Amino acid sequence: VVLIVGAGRGIGAAVAKRFARGGYHVVLVRRSDSAQLKASVCEIEAMGGRATGFLMDATTASSSSSSTYNENNNQDPLESLIDKIETTVGPVHVAVYNLGAQIGSRRLQETSRKQFELGWKLGTFGLFRLAKYLLPRMAARSGGSLLVTSSTAAMRGDMGQASHAAAMGGRQRLCQALHAEYARHNVHIAHIVIDSPVDSPDTLGKLLGDEHFDKLRQDFQTKRGGLVDPKAVAGLYWYLHHQPPSTWTFELDLRSRGDMPWWSSSRL
Ligand SMILES: NC(=O)c1ccc[n+]([C@@H]2O[C@H](COP(=O)([O-])OP(=O)(O)OC[C@H]3O[C@@H](n4cnc5c(N)ncnc54)[C@H](OP(=O)(O)O)[C@@H]3O)[C@@H](O)[C@H]2O)c1
Repeated sequence: VVLIVGAGRGIGAAVAKRFARGGYHVVLVRRSDSAQLKASVCEIEAMGGRATGFLMDATTASSSSSSTYNENNNQDPLESLIDKIETTVGPVHVAVYNLGAQIGSRRLQETSRKQFELGWKLGTFGLFRLAKYLLPRMAARSGGSLLVTSSTAAMRGDMGQASHAAAMGGRQRLCQALHAEYARHNVHIAHIVIDSPVDSPDTLGKLLGDEHFDKLRQDFQTKRGGLVDPKAVAGLYWYLHHQPPSTWTFELDLRSRGDMPWWSSSRL
């Protein structure tokens, strides 16, 4: 069973299809678009694969006050969904945490506390909750993978990215800490940095609007080898999950041909 938290038509659905082709039952979770969720499930079934879809906000928890959080609350949507999947579908072998935390480019004074907190919930806290609930189970079963999609903001803070960079930087460090604790239990944690725009209509497409998104697609196609292709990313997730334990990748760093890497100052 593969659980994909954040399964839009970009990386999420592409990873789902790759694992479905490999014989896994895929569980797709997304927040709001029930029509597209259904379409993704039907597409996988039409290919002869097995898929189940759930609509859920993965950031919802019993209390927003950190002093009164009910630890490992199996009534919370994400935790109770994991229970449900493991009871009705089967043990989760691979979890993909694919929620972005981009709230758009906002300078510090335009970033509200609420937006910053939402960025943290998407970027870091949701992953912490997934890991806290699932990794002990994977460890008890002696194996599994947690594959975490990430972005340039995990590696570098930039103008207008206070919330995004703090959230994604936390995501990368959390992955390092999870690796340190769970690799010895045969759970492979990988942090996949995507340092270019992705051909993802449900995230980047909606953020930019159709017209700008089409223009970006064309510009990248002619000058840079195309936007990052979710199908190609999905092939790498499959590869990461199948690496031998003697040779695990912790971090991948991907970008389209011709896009400058995050560590190049010429992009600033
Ligand atoms: N797109 C880019 O240009 C880009 C660039 C660099 C890195 N990344 C990284 O790539 C990952 C996302 O991949 P993608 O852009 O290809 O997206 P995608 O897989 O096409 O879609 C992600 C889905 O996550 C769902 N989602 C958002 N918030 C959620 C929540 N609170 N609970 C449950 N589901 C939620 C949304 O569902 P609904 O649509 O149903 O609300 C969205 O469609 C992120 O980690 C991001 O940081 C993306």
